[in-house]
Amino acid sequence: MQRIGVIGAGQMGNGIAHVCAVAGLDVRMVDVSDDVVTRSRAQIEHNLNRQIARGKLTDAEMQAALARISAGTDYAAFGDCDLVIEAATENEEVKREILKHLVPHLNADALIATNTSSISITRLGAATDRPGRFMGMHFMNPVPVMQLVELIRGIQTEQATFEAVRGLAQRLGKTISVAEDFPAFIVNRILLPMINEAVYTLYEGVGSVESIDTAMKLGANHPMGPLELADFIGLDTCLAIMHMLYDGLADSKYRPCPLLVKYVEAGWLGRKTDRGFYDYGGEVPVPTR
Ligand SMILES: NC(=O)c1ccc[n+]([C@@H]2O[C@H](COP(=O)([O-])OP(=O)(O)OC[C@H]3O[C@@H](n4cnc5c(N)ncnc54)[C@H](O)[C@@H]3O)[C@@H](O)[C@H]2O)c1
Repeated sequence: MQRIGVIGAGQMGNGIAHVCAVAGLDVRMVDVSDDVVTRSRAQIEHNLNRQIARGKLTDAEMQAALARISAGTDYAAFGDCDLVIEAATENEEVKREILKHLVPHLNADALIATNTSSISITRLGAATDRPGRFMGMHFMNPVPVMQLVELIRGIQTEQATFEAVRGLAQRLGKTISVAEDFPAFIVNRILLPMINEAVYTLYEGVGSVESIDTAMKLGANHPMGPLELADFIGLDTCLAIMHMLYDGLADSKYRPCPLLVKYVEAGWLGRKTDRGFYDYGGEVPVPTR
C-alpha cells in the first residue's frame, strides 16, 4: 500500500492522515468544504509540532509528512488510492451517501475501510460495489497517541482484505484487536454504556460534573473522567453510538440518557464546539453543572 484516501477531515480523519503520512504513505484527504480542510491541515501541523516538542519526530520528518498530504473537496483525488478510509460523521445515511459517491472514483481492486464506532460493517459493505474488499478499521482518539486499532470484518469481508488492512495497522505501529461485527464492536460496547451511565448519574443529581469525574479518576484509576471523555469523543458521536446499541441489541439497558440527548439538541457537542459537560472557552475547562 502506498496511497491512502481519507474521507472526513474532523478529529479522526486528520489523525489518520497524520499517522499515515508519518509512516511514509501518500495521503489524499477530502471533506465537504475548503474551510474544514484548511483547519484540518493546520491541526495536523499543530499535532506534528507537539510530537517534535516531545522528541518523537524531527523537523525534516514533519516537513516530509506534510508534503505527503494533499487535501481538498473532490473525490476524484481517490482515483489512484490503494485504500480509502471513511472517517466522516457517525451517521449511517451520511456514510452510505459517501460510499455511493466514492465507488465510481476507485480502482477496481482498491480497498475501503470505515472508521465507524458502531455501525454494522456488513450493512455499510453491502452499500458498496465491493463488500469483499470492505472492512472496519477503528482507530482511537487521538490517533497519533492511542495504540489500538480495532479490526472488524463484515460477513462478506475477504481474508486478503483483512490481511492487507492488518498489515497497514502494523506499519502504522499500532496494536490490533479483532472484533466481530456486532453493534459498537468491543471498545465502545463497553465504554459507551459507562459514559451514558455517568450522564444518568449527573441527570439524577447523584453528583456534579466535577464529583463524577473526580470519583472515576481517583476511585477507578481512569486517566480521564467519563464526562471529560464524552466531551473529548464528541457528544453527537456518543449519542449516535448509544442509539446504535439500543436499536441493534434491542435492550433497554442501552437507552440514551435524556440529558445527553438535550446537550446534542443544544449543539453542545463537547470540545469540538467549545462546550459540553465543560466550557472550554477560557484558560481551563469549567464544569457546566
Ligand atoms: N471521536 C472519537 O473519539 C472517535 C473515535 C473512533 C472513531 N470515531 C469515528 O470516526 C468518525 C468521525 O468522527 P470524528 O470524531 O472525527 O467526527 P468530527 O465531527 O470531528 O468529523 C467528521 C467530519 O466528517 C465530515 N463530513 C461529513 N459529511 C461528509 C461528506 N459527505 N464527505 C466528506 N466529509 C464529510 C465533517 O465535515 C467533519 O469534518 C465517526 O464515524 C466516529 O464514530 C470517533
